[in-house]
Amino acid sequence: MEVTIREVRAEDLFYIVEIEEKVFRADAFGFNYVFYLYENCRDFFLVADYKGMLVGYVVSCVEGEEVHVHSVAVVEWFRGKGIGRRLMEETIRLARSRGLRRVRLEVKTGNTVAISLYEKLGFERKALLKNYYADGSDAYLYVLTLSSS
Ligand SMILES: CC(C)(COP(=O)(O)OP(=O)(O)OC[C@H]1O[C@@H](n2cnc3c(N)ncnc32)[C@H](O)[C@@H]1OP(=O)(O)O)[C@@H](O)C(=O)NCCC(=O)NCCS
Repeated sequence: MEVTIREVRAEDLFYIVEIEEKVFRADAFGFNYVFYLYENCRDFFLVADYKGMLVGYVVSCVEGEEVHVHSVAVVEWFRGKGIGRRLMEETIRLARSRGLRRVRLEVKTGNTVAISLYEKLGFERKALLKNYYADGSDAYLYVLTLSSS
């Protein structure tokens, strides 16, 4: 499948807000926050493009020496095809190329698909964050330590 990973563009933002609402519901980022991320974290705001259609995205921000992944999602019909992995791998590659030390993210404790992806990429579970989400559910903090070389 010819999926391209590219930097986000302004015309992608409404689609991203819609996917956020559908996938993350009460925890979805609204337009203002997505626009903030576009303005401030664009170099780590990547989308998966299939023949001009936006089929996934990942957005992270640099915080000191680490990259914090704020959101990653693939539209339902395109899941299980390696797109989530490619979005995360590109984020990690960019982080390494910038000489950053860690990639950090939070994930719902019950999100076995995402947890499996992160663990395959080498992320390690570092903490349980109680009551992290709007519905009161807990998160795990996962960190990937990048080699210093
Ligand atoms: C999590 C998510 C981004 C993964 O994207 P994806 O494109 O479906 O994932 P990939 O096809 O790249 O799969 C990567 C790994 O995820 C796991 N995975 C994917 N689909 C799975 C499934 N149906 N069941 C179990 N594990 C699965 C596997 O470990 C897989 O590795 P493999 O290819 O070696 O088997 C996607 O499922 C999604 O958008 N989910 C809803 C939003 C979400 O939960 N985001 C993460 C919030 S922290």
